[in-house]
Amino acid sequence: MKTIRSVIAIVFSLLIVATLSAQQPSSPSTGLALTPPMGWNSWNKFGCNVSEDMIKSMADALVKSGMKDAGYQYVNIDDCWQVSRDEHANIVVDPQRFPHGMKALGDYLHSLGLKFGVYSDAGTQTCAGRPGGLGHEYQDAIQYAAWGVDYLKYDWCHTSTQDAKASYANIRAALDAAGRPIVLSICEWGTAKPWLWGKDVGGNLWRTTGDITDKFAGSEKWPDGTCCSNGLLAILDQQVGLESYAGPGHWNDPDMLEVGNGGMTDVEYRTHFSLWAILAAPLIAGNDLRNMRPEIHDILNNKEVIAVNQDALGREGTRVAKSGDLEVWAKQLKDGSRAVVLLNRGASEQNITVAWQDLGYPSHLNGAVRDLWQHKDLGKFTEKFSAPVASHGVVMLTVSP
Ligand code: GLA
Repeated sequence: MKTIRSVIAIVFSLLIVATLSAQQPSSPSTGLALTPPMGWNSWNKFGCNVSEDMIKSMADALVKSGMKDAGYQYVNIDDCWQVSRDEHANIVVDPQRFPHGMKALGDYLHSLGLKFGVYSDAGTQTCAGRPGGLGHEYQDAIQYAAWGVDYLKYDWCHTSTQDAKASYANIRAALDAAGRPIVLSICEWGTAKPWLWGKDVGGNLWRTTGDITDKFAGSEKWPDGTCCSNGLLAILDQQVGLESYAGPGHWNDPDMLEVGNGGMTDVEYRTHFSLWAILAAPLIAGNDLRNMRPEIHDILNNKEVIAVNQDALGREGTRVAKSGDLEVWAKQLKDGSRAVVLLNRGASEQNITVAWQDLGYPSHLNGAVRDLWQHKDLGKFTEKFSAPVASHGVVMLTVSP
């Protein structure tokens, strides 16, 4: 009897221990970025030319243009806001460019109902040679929390022999210790395959490639021989096979948007936006929002395309068919329908067909097809749907059973 009681007691204690260890203490950042983050970042258009006035005017434009209502939320200052460290090793904000400091800027963004992002680097210096975070992670995290920071992009320059996974785990631990929910954007360019560990270390998104450039195709090495400055298609091709790593709270990041920056045609920018939407990529605009042409405004504000990106199921789309320059990309949506991009990479208009079987549907399915750029229902189709697609262009659809 005594033995049975001791066995029961041991089993019971083991069960309690197992239950307690399964209940990880939840971090302040649990539940962030359940859909891909949307917002604006200074780098692609302004580089190091950042200032308090510019950021505030961009936030105003985000609201006035309707982009805030369309879902864009984060206003992120990239590199070059920081100039040095003081005698206590606190990070020093450029006093000329940000005369009222970061707390005031964060308060302004929050007063508009927006969120505040900053940038630093896991190494000794940022990519533009400003002070990095190495050895100051906890101190910086406390500072960011005090400023009201909601999003941190953490770059990978000047990291020498540092281990990427450990470095990003360290900054996540520091952010959590500071007690404020902060989205962590891992900017490691895909070198150490962050899709394999980014989620485990509490990253909410991770760059999968080198930097985007405002062009449709091609990829060039940096002057120092390292890789690369990537056109749209070069980045796109590097996303194939990564789709299973993305989901609510943790996203592959093919880099920020170039829509509106002038290096591509409007057709190509529509392609860029459609593909980033179907990839469940973060939609971080990178253009000057204060003087957008109506065509650019309409691309960034296409609510039907944004809805594909922000679909609650959180699936990343993938390439389901390819024949030379003609491709079909598809993404499963929460209601069982599929978003589809017909992409023509070639130099002349071509017909592209999507077969229901490539969407995981039976051929006899009667699918309702809607065009997300024309905002038009096109009718019901069985087996497949075909449409002419302009050179470098897309047709973007939903197919609903
Ligand atoms: C790296 C990043 C870019 C940008 C710059 C800033 O190149 O990949 O996105 O943040 O640094 O210097």
